[in-house]
Amino acid sequence: MKELLKRTHMCGDLRSENIGEEVVLNGWVARQRNLGGLMFIDLRDKTGITQITFPDSAPEELISEASHLRSEYVIGIKGKVVERSSKNPNLPTGDIEVIANEMSVYSKSETPPIYVKDDDQVSDGLRLKYRYLDLRKPHMQKNLALRHRITKATRDYFDKEGFTEVETPMLIKPTPEGARDYLVPSRTNKGSFYALPQSPQMFKQLLMVGGTDRYIQIAKCFRDEDLRADRQPEFTQIDMEMSFVDQEDIINIQEGYLKYLMKTVLGVEIETPLPRLTYEEAMSRYGSDKPDTRFGYELVGLNDVVAGTEFKVFNDCLDAGGLISGICIQNGGQKYSRKAIDKLTELVKTYGPKGLVWIKPEEGKINSSVNKFFDQDKLSKIVEAMDAKIGDLILIAADNANNVQNGLGFLRRHIAGEMGLLDDNKYNFLWVVDFPLFEENEEGDLKAMHHPFTSPKVEDIEKMETDPISVKANAYDIVLNGFELGGGSIRIHDQDVQKLMFKTLGLTQEECQEKFGFFLEALKYGVPPHGGIAYGLDRMAMLLAGEDSIREVIAFPKNQNAQCMVSEAPGSTSEDQLSELGLILDTGIQK
Ligand code: AMO
Ligand code: AMP
Repeated sequence: MKELLKRTHMCGDLRSENIGEEVVLNGWVARQRNLGGLMFIDLRDKTGITQITFPDSAPEELISEASHLRSEYVIGIKGKVVERSSKNPNLPTGDIEVIANEMSVYSKSETPPIYVKDDDQVSDGLRLKYRYLDLRKPHMQKNLALRHRITKATRDYFDKEGFTEVETPMLIKPTPEGARDYLVPSRTNKGSFYALPQSPQMFKQLLMVGGTDRYIQIAKCFRDEDLRADRQPEFTQIDMEMSFVDQEDIINIQEGYLKYLMKTVLGVEIETPLPRLTYEEAMSRYGSDKPDTRFGYELVGLNDVVAGTEFKVFNDCLDAGGLISGICIQNGGQKYSRKAIDKLTELVKTYGPKGLVWIKPEEGKINSSVNKFFDQDKLSKIVEAMDAKIGDLILIAADNANNVQNGLGFLRRHIAGEMGLLDDNKYNFLWVVDFPLFEENEEGDLKAMHHPFTSPKVEDIEKMETDPISVKANAYDIVLNGFELGGGSIRIHDQDVQKLMFKTLGLTQEECQEKFGFFLEALKYGVPPHGGIAYGLDRMAMLLAGEDSIREVIAFPKNQNAQCMVSEAPGSTSEDQLSELGLILDTGIQK
């Protein structure tokens, strides 16, 4: 064990103002070079890199020790800051170097299995297995620091607004967020299970019943669902709830927060009030309840315009009460050949529509895939309705409204990517409001679109039993660049409406009692009108860091199979532990 040289500076600190100072740096060897008697190393810590030089005039012992340094050795260096003869303008410390006169090698490193550099081109599997090496990369340290700044700004802002941070339990009864629960067997209550919270939803509402008035928590949540680039089984919410508020109050305070956050964390000014779209508008204009508005390509309904031809696909769709919509890709005519459109068609098919019609207004004529059925006059009506110009590309899909919207909603974002319109420096926040209270699942059963504690709009309550699917909710989502950043709602604070909600969802009284009895009980004892919202912190950090996956902003994320590659969780357990928990494994499942 070598003596610790107490550091005076971090590796990213030194500038020409420090020239002449005696300093101590600690860090990892990022690179070492031997240039004919002169030895250099780049020393790295989370703040950056400093060049260390061992001149041939240095003590022989020091030179010999330096010559044995390898990548990722951890060392301390004492030395003098001098002006660098060949400056490196790409490095913040590029004007100086440190001439070493003392060194402690704290620990050696075997050849690391991944390169510690941002563009290492290594597989995700290796990056996750050797995450502690991966975390040494500059962009990973930058992302962790950004995430810290987000949580700090969040706590600062809501503290000033009178919010109290309260921790809610992790071992709970199943929550109704709609995903699969992670279960934890109870040793002291054999045969019983805790669920890990999918969100603190019911507890934050109980905090409102408990008089906490304004609650916030940066809360771990657990959902056993299929993983995607913006989904992890274990993720973090910035979760809050407020008493004596309506939707406007909540939206106002959130806009103040987002403005403060963007300014503090990124130095970006955003304009408030933020744009708002109703759910219906979002779906009909963008084909998505989380529209990316950094580019146009809006959906235009064409049912009226395309009627009255011999084209069976459209006529069948019109007869079935479906939707025919198009998007116009400005200057897309050249870029999208027939082959390229075939590729787009394949993509759209996964959403339901069985094809795509294309139309290209060209000099002197309008070209299309339906020339057989549409004369030039009819085509020019469509071109006009789509506001298309020469050189543009119109793509049209026909099917039931849902499939057309989902298909074109996907397509507009996909094409925007190919057209280079997804500008990372644009932050298009918007609210989607007036969500339906219910949606139908694949079996045709009603389920809560947000969660079953969301209040219906007062004027729609009477329709809950007669026409539930038409009932609108006091629910809102905050969207950023095509991602659902957060969602919330005004809650039901009336026991009877809550019971009606459960009933409409098909729960029997016994099921209600078994699942939510404790919650319904609380609603008997004085409940303030309340509502709240939760942001996905991981998604927020991903978007602010300009990353494509939330894994890049989580220190130790799970892989595609929900495994922690570092610790190799989940793992097996001993017979003793199982028997203590009263569990018997089905050996068919056990490997
Ligand atoms: P919701 O289910 O919409 O609402 O979740 C809120 C936000 O959490 C993020 N999120 C996720 N992030 C990463 N991985 C996941 N698996 C994941 N699931 C959700 C999203 C989402 O917008 N209790 C309510 C909030 C409320 O009503 O106040 C709730 O949990 O960014
Ligand atoms: P088909 O009748 O399947 O040969 O299709 C004729 C043309 O209509 C092809 O160019 C298809 O791509 C297109 N098409 C088929 N189904 C749809 C649909 N649901 N929406 C839009 N275009 C379609």
